Amino acid sequence: MTNRLEARYLGLSLKSPLVPSASPLTATPSGARELEEAGASAIVMHSLFEEECQHDQKMLHRFLYEQELGHSESEGYLPVPDTFRTAEERYLEMLHQMKVGLEIPVIASLNGITRRGWAEHARQIAEAGADGLELNVYYVAADCEETAQDVERRYLEIVHSVRTAVPHMPLAVKISSQFTSPAHFVQQLKQVGADAVVLFNRFLQPDIQLVSRKLKPLLELSRSEELRERLRWIAIIRAQIAIDIAVTGGVHNTDDVLKAQMCGADITQMASALMQAGPGVIRRIEAGLLEWLDENEYESLLQLKGSVSYRNAADPSGFERANYLDALDSWRPE
Ligand SMILES: Cc1cc2nc3c(=O)[nH]c(=O)nc-3n(C[C@H](O)[C@H](O)[C@H](O)COP(=O)(O)O)c2cc1C
Repeated sequence: MTNRLEARYLGLSLKSPLVPSASPLTATPSGARELEEAGASAIVMHSLFEEECQHDQKMLHRFLYEQELGHSESEGYLPVPDTFRTAEERYLEMLHQMKVGLEIPVIASLNGITRRGWAEHARQIAEAGADGLELNVYYVAADCEETAQDVERRYLEIVHSVRTAVPHMPLAVKISSQFTSPAHFVQQLKQVGADAVVLFNRFLQPDIQLVSRKLKPLLELSRSEELRERLRWIAIIRAQIAIDIAVTGGVHNTDDVLKAQMCGADITQMASALMQAGPGVIRRIEAGLLEWLDENEYESLLQLKGSVSYRNAADPSGFERANYLDALDSWRPE
């Protein structure tokens, strides 16, 4: 019997487009198992962060060359303790456990911003058997001397270096929407070797504490409304660039998944919905999708894919400026 929810992403055939994105829920083998049992078709692991790796390097350097760890000189130059394991080693071990324990594909995730250092991590992750790799370049362009081209070049160099290091690894790049010409930028990412883009990273916005005047880091989970920015760009990119697209940010229910699918997303990633409602949300969305396909006489989700992309939409100008004018015109006082 055909699987009506089948999805294809990064060369993988998935039983549905419902994929938990990188979050604390995908940071342990037991969490990942729970998501698999709840119906996830693949998982994206919590990221290995560049900051963690840099911290380890400093620690190792101290162990090996500076001995600044509180030991007196009489103890001599101590070897690195057997128990010391770098963040990368812990990550690879976790990946290994997930690969052994799960049947669904496991996509590893690297998260950082500097130009160097990614290639070796990617090689290790490929060797450990990941089914794909997601690069999350969470870069806030805060330097007024840095041009838009410099920022884009940073991303392109990172992707190129990883692609060169792991030529056969299915590779996705998670980006924010803050590019002057997102569609053109995605095209460039494809040219340097990205197989997929994950649209879009949410930049967390710090708040300000009035009395102390300190910045307060704030982690707010998403809402469905955030999906709309993604829908526009998925529709625009799907129509022009042959690249796999995952949506992340604001996928909470069946309607969200259907809309993303119509605009042309290959998979829908979820974090906030799973953290708020628990893994059971996956089965509820699955059931909702099947019901909708029946009611609207579609054979499968794949049949629906891209039907409202920029190329296929009845009125593609709705994704552009016309949408803005219509929206302004439609406003009426209460
Ligand atoms: C607590 C938390 C931890 C996250 N950790 C990661 C991470 O390790 N790597 C990553 O690329 N994204 C991470 N994200 C971002 C999510 O994967 C996702 O892209 C974002 O939350 C938007 O999707 P959502 O609306 O479904 O939550 C994290 C998000 C949350 C809320």
